[in-house]
Amino acid sequence: MSEYRTGIGWDVHRLVAGRPLILGGVRIPSEAGLDGHSDADVLAHAITDALLGAAALGDIGQHFPDTDPRWAGAGSLLFLKHVRDLAASAGFALVNVDSTVILERPKLNDYRAAIRDSLAEALALDSSRVSVKFKTAEKLGPVGEGRSAEAQAVVTVKAILGTG
Ligand code: C5P
Ligand code: MG
Repeated sequence: MSEYRTGIGWDVHRLVAGRPLILGGVRIPSEAGLDGHSDADVLAHAITDALLGAAALGDIGQHFPDTDPRWAGAGSLLFLKHVRDLAASAGFALVNVDSTVILERPKLNDYRAAIRDSLAEALALDSSRVSVKFKTAEKLGPVGEGRSAEAQAVVTVKAILGTG
């Protein structure tokens, strides 16, 4: 019988003027972008943590410390690819990803297909196994006031026979 495991991930970044808004590796036209040491791709970071969680391999900060100059300005799809390889080495194959980005504006619906394809390519997964959902925070709290964005993710992996 196959063994399945699930991991959860969450992330938040400040939304500031003068930074690009990158979600799932896709640059989204926006007046403000996410601030951080890397490209601050809040969605890629949440999925990275969910995948690490499913494989019980720690968290994103352990693998990619924000004090490490190697990751300054890094494209976060690099993190995803690295963690996918780590999970594979530990005996886990990805089954599916579900995720939610919570951002007041801009509207992201038009970018859903591009984001799914970008994440699917980084994870070497079919796009049909990558779900990306969008929500506002109904003008409530820091996300609702346009000062930050959050992302949540759940990842399921399957233990490859004889490992995990
Ligand atoms: O937050 P709310 O429930 O009002 O969002 C309604 C819909 O708007 C979402 O289901 C999603 O399709 C879309 N949305 C979006 N971009 C956002 C937030 C929400 O496209 N930044
Ligand atoms: Mg982050």
